[in-house]
Order: sequence, then structure tokens, then C-alpha cells
Amino acid sequence: MNDHTDTTTTTTATTTTPAGAADRSGPDLTFQDEVRDLVRDAYRSIPTGAGAAVTERYYDAHDLTGIPDDALAWALGVGDPVGQAGLQDGEVVLDVGCGGGLDSLLAARRVGPSGRVIGLDLLDEMCERAEAAARSAGLADRCRFETGLMEAIPLDDDTVDAVISNGALNLSARKSRTFAELARVLRPGGRLWASDLTVDEGTLPPEVLASGAAWAGCLAGALAPRVLRRKLERAGFIEVEITPVEPFGVDQASAYPLFPDELLAALRRLLPSEDLQRLATSVVITARRPASEHERPVVEAPRADPLVHTGVRALDDIAPDEVEAPGVTIRHLKRVDDVDLKVMDVEAGGSTPYHVHPHAHEGVIVQGHGALRLQDGDQPLTPGDVFWVNPTEPHAIAAAPDRSIQLVCMDCFVD
Ligand SMILES: C[S@@+](CC[C@H](N)C(=O)[O-])C[C@H]1O[C@@H](n2cnc3c(N)ncnc32)[C@H](O)[C@@H]1O
Repeated sequence: MNDHTDTTTTTTATTTTPAGAADRSGPDLTFQDEVRDLVRDAYRSIPTGAGAAVTERYYDAHDLTGIPDDALAWALGVGDPVGQAGLQDGEVVLDVGCGGGLDSLLAARRVGPSGRVIGLDLLDEMCERAEAAARSAGLADRCRFETGLMEAIPLDDDTVDAVISNGALNLSARKSRTFAELARVLRPGGRLWASDLTVDEGTLPPEVLASGAAWAGCLAGALAPRVLRRKLERAGFIEVEITPVEPFGVDQASAYPLFPDELLAALRRLLPSEDLQRLATSVVITARRPASEHERPVVEAPRADPLVHTGVRALDDIAPDEVEAPGVTIRHLKRVDDVDLKVMDVEAGGSTPYHVHPHAHEGVIVQGHGALRLQDGDQPLTPGDVFWVNPTEPHAIAAAPDRSIQLVCMDCFVD
């Protein structure tokens, strides 16, 4: 194991950030550190993985021949991402949330002696297990395991050919940032191949969504396929495919040590019986980083909407008194390093024009209510919400019909 120590045990600790990794340490506006702490505690406290319940369900028995018993016992995934990832001799593969290392070992066999696998996990303990398994499988020379966060991957830009992941992406409380990190470390043209769970919107009751154990079990953090696709595309991925494999129900959940009896009982109590055997769906997520600028998806201007002025302009080119929408004012606050801070006020019923920025753009809602209008629909905005818009993505900020909205915008020129 290398010396990337786990530096994130408190909400104020910082993470070792390598060259190239996005460093946006600051106040935790949405309790993401608490989520990470509960995930860490949950995985640290389990005595073993789900073992045969996972390996027999998802893997080809032939592929598992010669894999050390410990790596099989620690299996905690929800699919077999390596089986069809088409890994080639000599490739460099990153296994995100590698756990006890099962998929890292399978990938190491596929990439051969000239290939390399880097297993990344939040926990030292998991990396140590994976490292021991690689040694006993005779694959240690092509594997290395690093303790670190998927939200700040300790690798340089453009360094891996393929990212694999099994039951780990859902654990991130900052998925947009995680996906941006995956895109960053992939070489142009590199592939993502992940197994995870998705949910149908509205299936899980609030009691389950608010349960730490359900988050640690990859359920409460699962996204609807539509949202997952949008986040991956916003991170710059193309050819995003989310392929359902099979339903994930309470019987499957009970095989994982992350699901305590109380949570299983709550699921049985709160959900109609017809939903119990399809709490979620295990899916295969595939996507690719564009090989060149030519492959970048063309972002169409959104449909005309009577509420807003249509047309796409770079808002930064518009002086405050020129904003073509009544009731919108933008005040420049200051520039901090590469970030411009502005305050935007939109009167009740008003909206900015649809516009794009050549750079990434974040905002925090200070007061009021409204919506972030995107091509595929509106996202409600309420105080404390943080939103993120990718470079060149058309969007508008609208106030609710009866409430104004005020936000602080951050134009991030580093991206
Ligand atoms: C459900 S287990 C899956 C492990 C492994 N992929 C497998 O298939 O058995 C999820 C793993 O992700 C790790 N993890 C959770 N949050 C993480 C984060 N933010 N960054 C890196 N790893 C994380 C956990 O420690 C755990 O080992």
C-alpha cells in the first residue's frame, strides 16, 4: 500500500489532493462529510462480505477459479463489471471502491503482466485485504491499492484506460464530483464500466431514504436512471448506457451485512409487498470519455419557453444593466483566485435568459424559491441548495411566480 493515508476522519479534515484533482475544500453545505463518515463506520464494522450470495448470483464460476477465499468472502458488489468490460492486455484499470479486491484481481488477470490495476478504497482495511489477496493470487506485481476518496482520486489526469466499479458509486454523497473525477483520470477515449443500483423515483419511503444503513447499503444513495445519465453526461461522458440486469429486492438486501434487521423490518413494514422484491434494479453503467473535441456532444439550445427569453449568450459578456430580462440584477462581488463571485437577484416571476458559460458554474441559493431550468426539465431551488452547471450547458435561473430568489454564483474559470 502506498502512503496515501486516510485524512478524512473528521468533518474539518482535508483530503490529500494530487496534481490535477479538483480541490474545493470549504464548508460542507449539504452534510456530505457526515454521509462519508457513516459509510466509513458501516464498512469498518462489518466482519465479512456477502460471499457466495454475491459470487454465485453475479459471477461466472469459471472466472472465479483460483481467486483466494478471502476475496470471495468479501464480495459486496451488485454485478460483474469486469466480465464484459473488454479489458485488453497492457491496459491500466482503476477499480473505484475496490473493497476486498475481487474485481481488481479479475481485472488484473485480463490486462496481463504488462497491464496495471489500481484499487482505490476509502478504507485502509479494505486495501490491506485486497493487497493480501493479490499476493496470494500471484498478481501483486500488477496491482496496487490506495486508500483515498472517489471524490478526490489520487491519480493524475488522463492516466487510466478503464474505470471499473462495483456497488461503490452510490455511496458517494457528491456524485457529480465523483463522475467529474472519473472523467478526469480517464485517458481520452477511456471507458467506464460499473455495476450499481438504480431506483425508480418515489419507490423508497422517506424513512428509508433518511436511513444511514440504507445509504451504506447502496440503496438510499441510488439515483433514478434519468438523473444518473444526466450527471454522467454533465461530467463529460458520452455513449452513456444504463442497462438493467435484474431487480434487487429485500431478499437480496438481507444477504449483505450492511442491512441490519431493523432496516429490513422497516422495509417490510413500509413498502407494499409488490415493491419488496424490486426495491431497486442492479444495472450495468457504461460510458466513454470522448477521444477528441470532435466527439463532444453538441448541446442544443433549449425549447422556447414563454417564461424566459430564449437564445444562448455567455452571461459573463453581459454587463449587469444589459441583462435582457426584467427584474434580474447581477452584482459582481469579487474574484477569489480563479473564481468570480456574484450575487444574482431574480424578482418573482422573472428569469434570466437561457445562457451558457464557457466555464463551470456553481451557485448557492441564499433565499427565495425558484428553479434551475435545464434542457431536460426544471430542478427546484430552495435556500441552501447548491447547483452545478457544466461548461456550455444551456440553463436559466427562474424565480417562483410568487417569490423572488437570491443566489451567490461562482464562475469557476479553472475548469
Ligand atoms: C459495497 S462495497 C463494494 C466493494 C467491491 N467493489 C466489491 O464489489 O466487493 C463499497 C466499497 O466502496 C468503498 N467506499 C465507500 N465510499 C467510498 C469513497 N467515497 N471513496 C472510495 N471508496 C469508497 C467502501 O469502503 C467499500 O469497500
